[in-house]
Amino acid sequence: MTEKILVIGANGQIGTELVSALRNIYGADSVIASDIKSPTYAIRHTGPFEIVNVLDHDNLHHVFNKHKPTQVYLLAAILSAVGEQKPKMAWDLNMTGLLHVLDFAVEFKVKKVFWPSSIAVFGPHSPQYDTPQYCVMDPNTVYGFSKLAGERWCEYYHDKYGVDIRSIRYPGLIGWRANPGGGTTDYAVHIFHEALKNNKYECFLSANTALPMMYMDDAIRATIALMDAPAENLTIRSSYNLAGVSFTPAQIADEIKKVIPGFEISYAANDPRQAIADSWPKSIDDTYAQKEWGWRLEYDLPKMVEDMLVNLSKVA
Ligand code: SER
Repeated sequence: MTEKILVIGANGQIGTELVSALRNIYGADSVIASDIKSPTYAIRHTGPFEIVNVLDHDNLHHVFNKHKPTQVYLLAAILSAVGEQKPKMAWDLNMTGLLHVLDFAVEFKVKKVFWPSSIAVFGPHSPQYDTPQYCVMDPNTVYGFSKLAGERWCEYYHDKYGVDIRSIRYPGLIGWRANPGGGTTDYAVHIFHEALKNNKYECFLSANTALPMMYMDDAIRATIALMDAPAENLTIRSSYNLAGVSFTPAQIADEIKKVIPGFEISYAANDPRQAIADSWPKSIDDTYAQKEWGWRLEYDLPKMVEDMLVNLSKVA
């Protein structure tokens, strides 16, 4: 059976890269990109696109009915920093959007659904180092508890209605093809743009704030590997921990300085994103992902920094 893949939220940081990876694998016409906003150039010129509002039940239903997708990736979400400015809107988009998609997955017998969760599901009382898959979770951001509630819904729809839902708790994602949209880990992308443009960067997190991060190439590879894994190997239908590579702003700045010797970093005080970062894990244990679908990381910090700088200087 040929696949029809619907990607919702295709214009975002993950969507931009995922649509292009999926089109390379399945063919351009098999991957329908969709977003609430007009498509980016790369998406518009490589295959079909639909305007979609995940909160609009009838509009989303129409798109499912028209394309009858066999796989759906739901990426539309409000992230941690913007979520704190618009808490009710973040809850509504992150929850209602997911419930619409889960209901339509049942109605249209979608074979597989992917939905991203995040390290933000952990909170101040979760173990901070090598945070395990199962532990205390007391997220204190709207984004974090919308993702935690979403994980519970995913497992529920899998158990009660047989939806083959798969999910990853992404670390902060770093890529050069698209910008992040309002998260706490965004500094680790901005720093590269500013290093190349201005040779300096004022970081909104403090020098020693360690967070788990991942290069986008690894994140896309992980996503596709999880979606390709045999269903019977997967014991987790909430969301898989994924470790990535943990580093602080000072450590990534030192790595950038090896390539751009004059680069300077400074630190802004009193940014509200600091409290969010402080409530999240510093490193993650992803044993389940390794054991159940063979996950292996490729990009460590030096390799990521080199690849970011090489590619960003080509497009800048
Ligand atoms: N990158 C996200 C954020 O910072 C975490 O999932 O909000």
